[in-house]
Amino acid sequence: MLLVRGGTVVTAERTLRADVLCDESGRIAAVGPALDAPAGCDTVDAGGLLVMPGGIDPHTHMEMPFMGSVASDDFYTGTAAGVAGGTTTIIDFVIPEAGASLLEAWKDWRAKAEKAVSDYSFHVAVTHWDDRVHADMGTLTRDCGVNSFKHFMAYKGALMVDDGVLLRSIGRALELGALCNVHAENGDAVAYLQQDLLRRGVTGPEAHPLSRPPAVEGEAAQRVIAIAGLLGAPVYIVHVSTKEATAAIAAARARGQRVYGEVLAQHLVLDDSVYANPDWLGAAQHVMSPPFRPKHHQAALWAGLASGQLQTTATDHCCFCAGQKQQGRTDFTKIPNGTPGIEDRMSVLWHHGVRTGRLTPEEFVAVTSTNAAKIFNIHPRKGAIVPGADADLVLWDPEGSRTVSAATHHQNVDYNVYEGMTLTGLARHTISGGRIVWSDGDLRVTRGAGRYVERPCFSPDMTAQAKRNATLGGSAA
Ligand code: URP
Ligand code: ZN
Ligand code: ZN
Ligand code: ZN
Repeated sequence: MLLVRGGTVVTAERTLRADVLCDESGRIAAVGPALDAPAGCDTVDAGGLLVMPGGIDPHTHMEMPFMGSVASDDFYTGTAAGVAGGTTTIIDFVIPEAGASLLEAWKDWRAKAEKAVSDYSFHVAVTHWDDRVHADMGTLTRDCGVNSFKHFMAYKGALMVDDGVLLRSIGRALELGALCNVHAENGDAVAYLQQDLLRRGVTGPEAHPLSRPPAVEGEAAQRVIAIAGLLGAPVYIVHVSTKEATAAIAAARARGQRVYGEVLAQHLVLDDSVYANPDWLGAAQHVMSPPFRPKHHQAALWAGLASGQLQTTATDHCCFCAGQKQQGRTDFTKIPNGTPGIEDRMSVLWHHGVRTGRLTPEEFVAVTSTNAAKIFNIHPRKGAIVPGADADLVLWDPEGSRTVSAATHHQNVDYNVYEGMTLTGLARHTISGGRIVWSDGDLRVTRGAGRYVERPCFSPDMTAQAKRNATLGGSAA
């Protein structure tokens, strides 16, 4: 048993002085002032610290095979880096190769993730359509604890699906009570612009953002919102990076459509000046999709989070080292797309969000943990500090500072996009399943201690939508 004593508990709803008692089964047993320590109970002093639900990163890619490479952080190193930054749960992505079985891919990813040090769950990507996909979606939701499916509107010739697949998959998910996630970029437009740039001899990483301008994201966001609207289905748009996509989500929500938006910590603070780096590798290390944007988009993303139009923050943690990025030395379209970030998300959000007054501490908890738990239907097991919830906590030092560097981070990758940035607000201690896994710079993780988190279908939101559709006779709102 573990007693967290003397801290200030901050949840998405309120802030109060309270102790938190974690039981042997890894759950929260009690929350209240001046709790007694049962015999043999360990205590951790949370004086001066904020006790918050452990972070949930709903978008990571550990050891993902992608663009001829495999992401360098695996489920062990990646989740360890997560707890060092206060994140105790990830939702990663099962990505079946085109034509492959979703169920077999899910089994492969379950096996890979057995080494995780903290809890994990999976969205499953739909990368093509046939009867087996239809059947596998049923099996995954019924027997495997999957309640969300992912779709890429980009990566033509690889992971991309067209509108026909989107319609079938979103419709199928709706009947199963599962939520669809979408990477919204117009993949045909990207492929056209890439070829045009290459033909004109623009082959370096500076071409990456030119091949994926904001309109490419805005169009796809609007299109998938329209498709989901036709079906009366909620939809979750991952890594929203533009004011155009943010506006499309806000407009849909104002019409009464259930649309959710996720923001990456990276997009909130880094801009497209990274591609002007004369050092090829320095620029290539920032090749991810959607790309970093002109600075003015960031105000829309922050406003989206503060207003509740965008609900979650993630990292899309997808690490490629120098040798891997070099694959695209002479052709930017071959640079593996992705950036690291899981270790620093919470600090970035605290430093640039809470300390600047853009977010309250309670809103910080909502956008780093609770909202993801609710949308993906693991609340209040995750994202809450109540008796019975998993004892996944971060003891947050709101005044503690650190300077980010690849030389000291725990991510298994040779650079950090926040290199040299001094951030105030850090995880002093992280507790996963009632055990201290990070304490004052000391990682105390156990390989394989993480558990697979099953997520049931028909979340409250999906249930409400089903009722709404029935009320409207099956048509969209
Ligand atoms: O560049 C990125 N984001 N890589 C990971 C795959 C994806 O699109 O999420
Ligand atoms: Zn069906
Ligand atoms: Zn994506
Ligand atoms: Zn991703």
